[in-house]
Amino acid sequence: MNILAFESSCDETAAAVVADGRKVLSDEIFSQVALHEIYGGVVPEIAARSHLEVISLLADRALEKAGLARADIDAVACTYAPGLIGAVLVGVNFAKSAALALGKPLIPVHHIRGHIAANYLAFPDLEPPFLCLAISGGNTMLVDVRGYTDMRILGQTRDDAAGECFDKSARVLGLGYPGGKPIDELSKKGRDDAYDLPRPAVHGDNPYDMSFSGLKTAVVNLAHHAQQTGEELDKAGLAASLCRAVSEMLVSRTMAAAEALGHRRIAVAGGVAANSRIRVDFQAACEKTGRTLYVPPLRLCGDNAAMIGAQGYYEFLAGHTAGPDLNAYATKEL
Ligand code: KG4
Repeated sequence: MNILAFESSCDETAAAVVADGRKVLSDEIFSQVALHEIYGGVVPEIAARSHLEVISLLADRALEKAGLARADIDAVACTYAPGLIGAVLVGVNFAKSAALALGKPLIPVHHIRGHIAANYLAFPDLEPPFLCLAISGGNTMLVDVRGYTDMRILGQTRDDAAGECFDKSARVLGLGYPGGKPIDELSKKGRDDAYDLPRPAVHGDNPYDMSFSGLKTAVVNLAHHAQQTGEELDKAGLAASLCRAVSEMLVSRTMAAAEALGHRRIAVAGGVAANSRIRVDFQAACEKTGRTLYVPPLRLCGDNAAMIGAQGYYEFLAGHTAGPDLNAYATKEL
């Protein structure tokens, strides 16, 4: 079954064709980073307009690269939530029109389910159940993946996402946007014990919930203090200490959940899964406890439409299709 899939929830417009949920036939991504860079973050209105400009072209290219004609497409899938509402709406409306024009089913896909499904593309043998940590620019969730469409959130951030913590920290350190990658690169030149950063605990009875705003504030305060006093900041040391703090918070909760639920397989997904410290720490923790780790290659970690096509296949098998009244949502339960 060939699914033409679209992703437009934030600052990447993407179109892909995926066969039977597992095989990527094409995977086109247009990144808007250059458009938002000067603002230091994503401007929702600019994002929506840019999606509109390129989505049709990307759809044609995805078909061409897959070597398929429109008639070879069996269904159309799109991210319908969560995300910047104007941006998600562009993908949803384009997908609706495409499904209608082709006379094929329309499949709505939750963006985080898509990130989790990136693992099905990277690891053909991976099947639920497994535990997945989904870490992106807007979400940080620990998910018990019981089935392809049966998921339970075990814990999540109460405030900022892990990616947001990296992005805001990078901004005060003058590293540009998006900040996760430059912080990751800079961290390799610094000592991870250069700064004693907090690992904020969360009040309440859910041991798997997380909080990143205190960590972000600690970095911002250090940067402002250095500016005001003229003291030289060890930026590489701060980047390394930040990566270590974020990684420790994520790895400790994930491993505790794996232990409590008896999961032997752990997957990591989302843009922040590209972080080298997080990858190394997860690998070490899994090796130590005899668990298997799944982390997709970098291209499949960030936003892409292939992951939407992968999850779309399983949503279709579960009967989750939509009509032309499908709406877009800024937030939505997993
Ligand atoms: O999954 P994604 O592409 O978009 C969302 O769905 O949000 O994730 C983007 C996030 C940004 O916050 C970016 O700074 C972060 O992923 N990121 C990284 C790295 N590469 C991207 N964070 C830490 N280390 C990286 N190497």
